[in-house]
Amino acid sequence: MDWILDAAEAMGPQLTEWRRWFHANPELSFQEVETSRRVAEILRSFGGTSVRVGVKGTDTGVVADIDPGRPGPCVALRADMDALPIQERGSAPYRSRRDGVMHACGHDAHVTMLLGAAKVLVEMGDRLPGRVRLIFQPSEESPHSSGARAMIEEGVLDGVGAIAGLHVWGTMPSGLVGYRVGPFMASADEWECLILGKGGHGEVPHLAADPIVAAGAVITSLQTIVSREVDPLEPAVVTCGHMEAGTTFNVIPDRALLRGTVRTFGQGVWESMPVRLRRICEGICSAMNCRAEVRYNRVLPPTVNHPELTLEAAQVAREMFGPTEVQEIPPTMGAEDMGLYLEKVPGTFLFLGIMNEAKGVVHPQHHPEYDVDDQVLPRGSALLASLALRFLSKLS
Ligand code: NI
Repeated sequence: MDWILDAAEAMGPQLTEWRRWFHANPELSFQEVETSRRVAEILRSFGGTSVRVGVKGTDTGVVADIDPGRPGPCVALRADMDALPIQERGSAPYRSRRDGVMHACGHDAHVTMLLGAAKVLVEMGDRLPGRVRLIFQPSEESPHSSGARAMIEEGVLDGVGAIAGLHVWGTMPSGLVGYRVGPFMASADEWECLILGKGGHGEVPHLAADPIVAAGAVITSLQTIVSREVDPLEPAVVTCGHMEAGTTFNVIPDRALLRGTVRTFGQGVWESMPVRLRRICEGICSAMNCRAEVRYNRVLPPTVNHPELTLEAAQVAREMFGPTEVQEIPPTMGAEDMGLYLEKVPGTFLFLGIMNEAKGVVHPQHHPEYDVDDQVLPRGSALLASLALRFLSKLS
């Protein structure tokens, strides 16, 4: 595998140039028009790939197959392409050229690393032991309209036996590879509770049914789901992030609205959450002479890494970069639409550190001064290419 790392290292300046171009030209979810055009242009320049731009359901998804031209298994590598609605505060010459839009989650690096991996794999020609599908998806940052969901519905996983993806991570030292077997990132659900009471004058509460008092009781009681109902060894979060009721100080309104999110790592807790939330909202409201209308929406599943393929991936990283450069890392409560692919196909999602204090690259994801240590790009490309090869050989 040393040759892969050497080939990727030799592409270092090119990778840096690509990453900085993507960084300077960020586009929001489902608007990745120039990004996908540039991705397709670079892929076509390698030859040896069949590139499809504008996957149905998205105008901007890009799928390309590297096909050695003989039967064999197929594995997928995935990168996301969208940026965030953040005003960049950095001063780098390649800072965002678009006001209020910024690559603050490293998706510029994800695209670049996958392009680098593609180049290495294309150059293998017919020595490639199977097909590699490159998935450049739009809209990861907008979970309600997930680009992964659109791509999967369009069939990008058809025939795929395993999948891998990388996320650069701003709080891990440059070059460090982080892996986690099993549940790695949380599910993201959304709930809404509309409380219907009876409005009235503020001075005669006995003639009304006060939805604001009921809302207060609902908010506190919802916290007992995690503190009293869920096994303390199971991570879970119930947050009420939005409340809305009333128009002025001396009127009892007739309704109140609460909205929030639930995060879990799946299995039984995830399944049980809608029932628990509904029971508490409806029960408390009924006790207070109000009525609750509850809506519960599963936005993203947890991201669950396949045990065997994840350990295999960690082993690949160790062989390539040395044992001290690979670490088991704790799960995170953040959510990712990578989980949608991993629901369908076994695979793994790894983190790659990009924090470099000497270069001032120290900001966490989504920070207005977020940047990526470009020195890690070859490592990311080499890792993706090697994972594809290893997964292909496991499937053969
Ligand atoms: Ni991200």
